[in-house]
Amino acid sequence: MTSKVLAVPAVALGTWAWGDSGEAGDGYFGSRLSESGLREVVEKAQSNGFTLWDTAVAYGMGRSESALAQALKGCHRSEYQLSTKFTPQIAGDGDDPVADMLEQSLERMSTDYVDLFWIHNPADVARWTPPLIPLLKSGRIKHVGVSNHNMAEIALADQILGEAGFRVEAVQNHYSLLYRSSERAGILDHCREHDVRFFSYMVLEQGALTGRYSPANPLPEGSSRAEVYNGVLPQLRALTDRMGVIGKDRGASAADVATAWALAKGTTPIVGVTKAGHIDGLVRAHGIELADEEIAELEALAEAADVDTRGWWEQEM
Ligand SMILES: NC(=O)c1ccc[n+]([C@@H]2O[C@H](COP(=O)([O-])OP(=O)(O)OC[C@H]3O[C@@H](n4cnc5c(N)ncnc54)[C@H](OP(=O)(O)O)[C@@H]3O)[C@@H](O)[C@H]2O)c1
Repeated sequence: MTSKVLAVPAVALGTWAWGDSGEAGDGYFGSRLSESGLREVVEKAQSNGFTLWDTAVAYGMGRSESALAQALKGCHRSEYQLSTKFTPQIAGDGDDPVADMLEQSLERMSTDYVDLFWIHNPADVARWTPPLIPLLKSGRIKHVGVSNHNMAEIALADQILGEAGFRVEAVQNHYSLLYRSSERAGILDHCREHDVRFFSYMVLEQGALTGRYSPANPLPEGSSRAEVYNGVLPQLRALTDRMGVIGKDRGASAADVATAWALAKGTTPIVGVTKAGHIDGLVRAHGIELADEEIAELEALAEAADVDTRGWWEQEM
């Protein structure tokens, strides 16, 4: 009964950092962002065919959605796709908290539909999946995905939607060279076999895998990501150096190689872009074909780094 098959670009754009205040060092990412800078990001992305934008109410309690809508103002609604989420932990107490949260997102983003709508985490699959059905029927949401769900939870959500003629069309989990729990749990294989798009988030580990940050040039002081990653940057050095060398041979950066790895694994990376130059990186990453030996070498180096980057919001898969 789903109207159209989910069709998306090879890489999606993430906007969690856009929910910060934009002041250096403040918030989760602590990057300095401006309205004009984000507009440039959007223009460059859109003109290179990267037209799927991932956000969530939870990113700055609506600030990311509003900043995204503002930056997309010059584009026609048919030129981009919006992906946003229902976050159970901030559900309201009305009769239909899922519909209510969606309505607020639609209002902030000045639109009357969302292309891809996610249940942000598996707080209560039996409770939060059924309310998606009327939203699919009314066309307020075009496609549905689940995020941070394990195999059993994906299956349950799919069964609930299946009874109404819909399905889970996408899965969005943390997946990077440093964090491969979804692969080990068989979720990647499951998605490939069942034609479910697997979106990998944090393929750059919030900047730690870009090779740009080091003990001498740490992640922005005062930001949450600095607290998580600055302490392990020395352990990541061998991996980011090797990605840098592999990239250099192709005129690319370590970050591009990290994204190319996620593409080579058959996933759709959601890359958190904050600068127009990051879009050039995505274009390069898309053109990189890593050899099997390079993939194995990078995975071995990542394993040897021996760091656990599971987010505080994530469960074991
Ligand atoms: N469903 C969930 O629970 C969940 C959880 C986490 C993330 N997500 C989604 O996934 C997206 C991606 O994750 P993320 O934003 O947390 O982290 P990420 O994509 O791993 O890293 C983003 C950071 O990397 C840097 N960067 C981005 N592109 C780059 C490039 N080409 N070259 C060099 N540096 C680059 C930027 O840092 P600087 O600003 O320092 O340059 C940016 O803030 C999020 O924005 C969000 O949409 C979903």
